[in-house]
Amino acid sequence: MAEQMASSRPAFFTLADEALTGLAERHGTPLLVLDEATLRRKVQEWSQATARQPYPVRVFYATKALTLIGLLRFLHETGGFGVEAVSLGEYEAARRAGVPKEGVIYQGSPKVPQEAVAVLRQGVRAVIIDSPFEVAMLDRISTSRLPVLIRINPGWDAHTHSYLATAGEDSKFGIVPGAELRDTLEAIRTTRHLELVGFHVHVGSELRQVADYEGAYRAFAAIVAEALERTGLRHPILDVGGGIGVCYQDEATLDAETFLRVVAEHLADLSPAEVWVEPGRSIVSEAGVLLYRVLGVKDRPMLPFAFVDGGMGDNIRPALYGAQYPLRVVGGDAGRPGREYRVVGRYCESGDVIRAAAWLPELNGGELLAVGTAGAYTYAMSSHYNGIGRVPVVLWKGDHDVLWARRERVDDVLAADVG
Ligand code: LLP
Repeated sequence: MAEQMASSRPAFFTLADEALTGLAERHGTPLLVLDEATLRRKVQEWSQATARQPYPVRVFYATKALTLIGLLRFLHETGGFGVEAVSLGEYEAARRAGVPKEGVIYQGSPKVPQEAVAVLRQGVRAVIIDSPFEVAMLDRISTSRLPVLIRINPGWDAHTHSYLATAGEDSKFGIVPGAELRDTLEAIRTTRHLELVGFHVHVGSELRQVADYEGAYRAFAAIVAEALERTGLRHPILDVGGGIGVCYQDEATLDAETFLRVVAEHLADLSPAEVWVEPGRSIVSEAGVLLYRVLGVKDRPMLPFAFVDGGMGDNIRPALYGAQYPLRVVGGDAGRPGREYRVVGRYCESGDVIRAAAWLPELNGGELLAVGTAGAYTYAMSSHYNGIGRVPVVLWKGDHDVLWARRERVDDVLAADVG
């Protein structure tokens, strides 16, 4: 355990070149490697921080960041983490991983009735209501008591990419204070099956400033205090979401401890029965290293292009959010002169750019390229675009690996095509 705690840096900086080279040879490229020691460290950080709070705190891993049955089982077994699921697919993965139904909370902005029926038939710890129109639908499909939380939109626009801010007043998420919230509370009160047990807020994703959580939680606390008075609910469950940013280059960010301190400062006065947290990216991102093979180099007036064998199908984030990942050539660059490259993928899009300008040792093709901090929202958002299957995922255990997802074959890509 001691050596697993030794480094708090992303796996990209700590995984040995020999290990990465061996994994690429064994499984081929592209390949997503997850470092077990880093995952374990993240679980410990959360477990230690939650244990120090004045009320019970439960972690529901936001599986949208990376859904793999092996990962969900690992987080459940090592940390007792539950799962936040937004679809039937995510729910099923959690249950197949051995997470009991009391360990799953069901979100969805909004939920699709056919999926909600299947989820509720099996059971969940609670449902988070995101829109007023969900109340009647959930009541209609429930056959027994259903604990619900209301997702509040506190009207706080966080400092992050506009696609990742979820709590501004013009956002599609949650229920706004005033008539919309009052009507929702009243609608829940008159249902047959729904029981209000608490409130939820998720401020956004990739948040690095304490001030964003402070502003949003202050507004949330005031809204919840009023709702408690109105409903007579005394000890609510408060689900404070996720959103903590990670270190892609050398950005400073929050840790679990700081995050939970801010939560306590703003929400302890509401005397919560429990506080729930939903971290996604901050659990899995830094454990992930995506490996590509350089296919070749082509000269262009601006910069030479270095082509790799993956791209926007396995990591849409550079194209979608302008995300910048750390890159390095695996296998040593000692003595080789460096130069700048535009690193691009194999997909038929000019926007399939992994880095617009990266300083790398001179490339000839055949090199192994590592992309760091790549565990979250890469594989999870991957597609079959251009008829290409999803990459395999392995767990690196320090001296051997375990396959968590195999490489998809052409038959997998065409599996649903019945024409
Ligand atoms: N809880 C709720 C209700 C959420 O909507 C999310 C993320 C999370 C928790 C987890 O947030 P995290 O701790 O991972 O930041 N595709 C984007 C991220 C979208 C996040 C959506 N919601 C990306 O690649 O950056």
